[in-house]
Amino acid sequence: MTPVLELSAASFAYRGSAAPVVEDVSLSVAAGQSLALVGESGAGKTTLLRLLLGPARPTAGAVRFDGDRLNLRDRAQMRRFRRSVQCVFQDPYSSLDPRRRVGDIVSEPLHSLGIDSRRTAVLKVAEALERVGLPADAAERYPHEFSGGQRQRIAIARATVCDPRVLLADEPVSALDVTTRVKVVELLGELKEERGLTLVMVSHDLSVVASLCERTAVLERGRIVEQGDTAQVLGAPAHPYTRRLVESVPRLPV
Ligand SMILES: Nc1ncnc2c1ncn2[C@@H]1O[C@H](COP(=O)(O)OP(=O)(O)OP(=O)(O)O)[C@@H](O)[C@H]1O
Ligand SMILES: [Mg+2]
Repeated sequence: MTPVLELSAASFAYRGSAAPVVEDVSLSVAAGQSLALVGESGAGKTTLLRLLLGPARPTAGAVRFDGDRLNLRDRAQMRRFRRSVQCVFQDPYSSLDPRRRVGDIVSEPLHSLGIDSRRTAVLKVAEALERVGLPADAAERYPHEFSGGQRQRIAIARATVCDPRVLLADEPVSALDVTTRVKVVELLGELKEERGLTLVMVSHDLSVVASLCERTAVLERGRIVEQGDTAQVLGAPAHPYTRRLVESVPRLPV
């Protein structure tokens, strides 16, 4: 089956910097599958997601969506892409427009994709807010009236309101307290089970990775050092870098 998203031998360097931040990365994500990207801070995880999402274009290699090279100038492809692929950014503070009410923020994908009328959009927004555990009246309020964790949930509501096939999520639960984290992980699990959502997720929390993602790719300074079945990669790491990563997970003293 054609992968939904695929990177082949992709490299990327930020403008003005000679050294690539992502180097010769190949990976593919099949429909309904979940892939975790793990690695130390600065390893290039966010940059890799930006390559999959389009704003960053590879300096070498290719990104493919449903088997076709991603081309920002192909309007028909871009429309299908935006309809299919949504994302949750790493920083819940800067990713929500402070001047717009939550209801407008969450319904934005429905309007920009021309999917729904105003009336059905109101219902879908209420549903999406409820799914992430926010009251329906949250729609009337502004982002600054919410905590960091609540804003992260608003971002997840926005990303899932149009029922995307693929969700790219950058540390979707790191700003959340333990109870909310469990709820959001459950929510993502449900979206996978019930709607066949394909998930590509960056997380420092390896227990979240283990519970949500069948596959894991380990990034060290922009290169994939190991990828495969999550249980295998995290349970019996083949690469010393992965071993260090797994061993650095704090454990409660018993
Ligand atoms: N806009 C930018 N311009 C130049 N360099 C950048 C830019 N964004 C990131 N970098 C550099 O690219 C490298 C990878 O950054 P990236 O944000 O992808 O890391 P990350 O794995 O997501 O880290 P973290 O876990 O801290 O979020 C870092 O060395 C960073 O300094
Ligand atoms: Mg990052």
